[in-house]
Amino acid sequence: MKKVALATLLLVAAACTQAPKAPTAKSYPIVDSLLKVMTLEEKVGQTVLFTSDWTVTGPTMREGYLDDIRAGRCGNIFNAYTAGYTRKLQEIAVNETRLGIPLLFGYDVIHGFRTIFPINLGMSCSWDVEAIEESARIAAREAAAAGLHWTYSPMCDISVEPRWGRISEGAGEDAFLGSLIAAAMTRGYQGDDLSDVGTVLACVKHYAAYGAPQAGRDYNTVDMSERWLREFYLPPYKAAIDAGALSVMASFNELDGVPATANRHLLQDILRDEWGFRGFVVSDYTGINEMVMHGYASDVEDAGRLAMNAGLDMDMQGASYMDYMVGLVRSGKVRESTLDEAVRRILNVKAELGLFDDPFRYCSAEREATETLTEDNKAAARRIASGSMVLLKNDGVLPLQKGKRTAVIGALAASKDDLLGSWRGAGEVESVPASILDAIREVAPVAYAEGAKEMGDDRSGFAAALSAARSAEQVVLVIGEDCQWSGEAASRSDIRIPGVQTELLEKLAATGKKVAVVLLNGRPLDLSRENELAGALLEAWYPGTMGGYAVADVLFGDFNPCGKLSVTFPRCLGQVPIYHYAKNTGRPYIHPEAKYESRYLDVANEPLFAFGHGLSYTDFEYSAISLSSDSFSGGGSIRATVTVLNNGSREGTETVQMYIRDLVGSVTRPVKQLKGFERVTLGPGESKEVSFTIDAETISFWRQDMTWGPESGDFMLFIGGSSDDVKEIPFSYAE
Ligand code: BGC
Repeated sequence: MKKVALATLLLVAAACTQAPKAPTAKSYPIVDSLLKVMTLEEKVGQTVLFTSDWTVTGPTMREGYLDDIRAGRCGNIFNAYTAGYTRKLQEIAVNETRLGIPLLFGYDVIHGFRTIFPINLGMSCSWDVEAIEESARIAAREAAAAGLHWTYSPMCDISVEPRWGRISEGAGEDAFLGSLIAAAMTRGYQGDDLSDVGTVLACVKHYAAYGAPQAGRDYNTVDMSERWLREFYLPPYKAAIDAGALSVMASFNELDGVPATANRHLLQDILRDEWGFRGFVVSDYTGINEMVMHGYASDVEDAGRLAMNAGLDMDMQGASYMDYMVGLVRSGKVRESTLDEAVRRILNVKAELGLFDDPFRYCSAEREATETLTEDNKAAARRIASGSMVLLKNDGVLPLQKGKRTAVIGALAASKDDLLGSWRGAGEVESVPASILDAIREVAPVAYAEGAKEMGDDRSGFAAALSAARSAEQVVLVIGEDCQWSGEAASRSDIRIPGVQTELLEKLAATGKKVAVVLLNGRPLDLSRENELAGALLEAWYPGTMGGYAVADVLFGDFNPCGKLSVTFPRCLGQVPIYHYAKNTGRPYIHPEAKYESRYLDVANEPLFAFGHGLSYTDFEYSAISLSSDSFSGGGSIRATVTVLNNGSREGTETVQMYIRDLVGSVTRPVKQLKGFERVTLGPGESKEVSFTIDAETISFWRQDMTWGPESGDFMLFIGGSSDDVKEIPFSYAE
């Protein structure tokens, strides 16, 4: 066929009205023009996404993706980056295909691209929505300079499942906090003009409810009521879409018996019809093909038919669309108009990114060199990492003193690699300036002993560790999980610290020394034993490129810890799932001696560390709550105010949290549910009033008739520094 110059189409398009810049994926004249001249094969090519051979993020690879691009069979590539390589691939698409439609380049930029921030679960514990947005903005700028247009983030999967390795990629258990974070990340990635070369397209994933796999095993069955789904799982995806995200990734799991990949209720009824989503939906890695194994499609062709007809626009890595879509359209099993709609959505986003104006605008070796891993980016990563750490326990051991003889123990203390966590983008261990050990060495004389590795039963290092501890004035033990024990396909059936690390802590504690334990891990762990033994417990997650320094900043008091748990830490696996928005049941556990109440015989009902928990080196005191009125009605509101006092001797930041309970509802309501928070920084002796507005939206829920709204009645309002440490006051509402 004759090559149609893209420039000609652009000229025609330019004569038409200019499309708006806001990320709404309005229709673009260039897209209309293209659709008119595209062959069926060319249309299908735009729905195909293949991985390059640069990074492996799934079970299959595809030889010959360059030929696929050249033949117009593949319009989108992931796992290829750097200005040089993306330019090379883009040149093939633009110069060697008939229409010269530019490729879209995607990548998993999950918590940073080159400058790596803490894992997302860690960042969510900062409750610092602006800082999280900043991290996404920096990641976008670095990724875009390397030729990337599209990140597979934000990961909006709520999870109360610590066995699931991917809990590390999300924002924890709560839909309210998760929604604010999802929106912030979207804004950070996309900015307010997607064609700006410092921004990338966000991809809301994994839609939906991927964070609730049965038994915590990755990819496993998900089933929950529509009410539970809408109230506790869907809000973060919607928040990201409301913030302008223009792509969504369907999840691997089934929901109510239908794989998300071909779930029309999710992809059409909720996503497009209810939420007004205007972008495109991509499958997860071979997600279409996997519907055969699910037992939902008879073969890969059938899977492609089901997915396309359900509203799944782009096939990641499965080749189902590539191999069968032309035939499916020709045989009438898929309408051409359905395919056209998918292609239009994809091309609209390419237009929104400005790729039709200049397909190479993102490939900039110069920006790549100057905007990557800058001192500013690293400083932000260090600050955000410190702010993400949660001081779970402190018997006065922390902060440590600079200059004192310090024993540093644990294989993880010396690891730079583990600091980066899983899904570390293009982050490299060579860019990590210091391990925790290196960073401590800069402020104190150190005796290091490996003591124990994070896995295995080798106790040969115990003796050296004990002797280092005995002759030290202060002892730091770094333990946790190997970073590859979190992330995809990294479920665990045991959520205790692996190997002989806890045994080493037992021996160290037996010396009489108070041990400051630093934890590197990607999930809520059962820390019951460590909590008994340690003098202090600092949850540092996987803190990223600057994590070594960030840990030292907190340990030695240069940074006063302020993180609060975004996920509940159980006492043992048997309590799972455990979360702060539990219901009361008909037999709540009130009487210690009672038998027929909802409790365990062998463990308390309460978690080890509650949602919202996190200590500081200073103390915050809360006044009683005052209300502007003890009732409101209709469209009115009330204000709830507390005075928070910094009762200690150093500046600190406190996250003041507000929870609500609706005492009687047309469906039962949680005993406590997060509905607001505010971070305040107070100097020693300083106090501040913190107020929250409560209106009909604050108390709305999915009522028995499945409408969203408030119900008249009595409520309890709670404010405090943790879900298990609150003041309370009643109020009422009349419709
Ligand atoms: C993961 C996604 C990821 C994709 C592409 C899949 O295996 O589930 O989160 O975005 O691979 O790398």
